[in-house]
Amino acid sequence: MSTNLNAFVHTLRYEADDVISVELRPVPGTEFPAFTAGSHINLHLPNGMERSYSLCNSSTELNRYVVGVLRDRASRGGSRCVHEQLRVGMRLLISAPGNNFPLHEEAGHTVLIAGGIGVTPILCMARRLKAIERSFEVMYFARSRQSAAFVAELEALGVPLMLHFDEEKGGPPDLKALLSVRGPQAQTHYYACGPTIMLDAFEKICNELGHENAHIERFAAVEVAASPNAHATYSVELRRSGRIITVTPDKSLLDTLLAAGVEVDHSCCEGVCGTCETRVLEGEPDHRDSVLGAKERASNKVMMVCVSGCKSNSLTLDL
Ligand code: FES
Repeated sequence: MSTNLNAFVHTLRYEADDVISVELRPVPGTEFPAFTAGSHINLHLPNGMERSYSLCNSSTELNRYVVGVLRDRASRGGSRCVHEQLRVGMRLLISAPGNNFPLHEEAGHTVLIAGGIGVTPILCMARRLKAIERSFEVMYFARSRQSAAFVAELEALGVPLMLHFDEEKGGPPDLKALLSVRGPQAQTHYYACGPTIMLDAFEKICNELGHENAHIERFAAVEVAASPNAHATYSVELRRSGRIITVTPDKSLLDTLLAAGVEVDHSCCEGVCGTCETRVLEGEPDHRDSVLGAKERASNKVMMVCVSGCKSNSLTLDL
């Protein structure tokens, strides 16, 4: 199990319409671990919910985590709680940083694409690439200028920055045209974070254009149906204890593990945060998460046990 950290809310700041930043610091006598660009932390909120947010401050800063939170109109309570219940000085339990969206710092050139609140990990990546003096550019799309957080911070980096506000341009950007000008380049890495519709388009366009190094981070889960050859019932060997459990159609693999008393870190239970990532030692998972990229899926080395299933007769997990 990963350890939680004791933090307190040091600063709450208005960043844009419906967006605040939350700066967390360790409670006196404790320290925060270092993090890498693209990392997220889970906040254990006062209303009992646990929510993941990307870190947007510089990864060179020690003992300070900053997240940007959009008040989501369709919120099930997470972002509303952050906006309405957090107070300066309040203590919060948070997870140590995890990273499902790592930056390939050695890339010849990097294109960072942010949509709306998806700017948070992108800003952290931009700060890192600037610090290590790599070639990169940023594209930032938002509904309006007033709803776009951290524009000043991006402008201050003094790197190529393309801003697109739908309200001013009369519609969303032509992503295909923006990505087409480059053609396939093995040394260029593309990163996108933003709404599902933008990420779906980004993945499709990168595929069509042959941009191999395309990376995304999703905030909302995509519903992935079970593969036709996935098994409804299957057995799972837990290598460390030697136990064998059976997963039945009425329960997820995660719920089956928890019911059997196996400790598995989890948060979103929707396949989007990466907290329940588990090593697969044998067997073929039916990946239904929104975290893993195509190469990671194909390798079948890890799986998100909250939503994924099994295509082989059984799985062996490193649990
Ligand atoms: S708990 Fe979030 S991906 Fe499984």
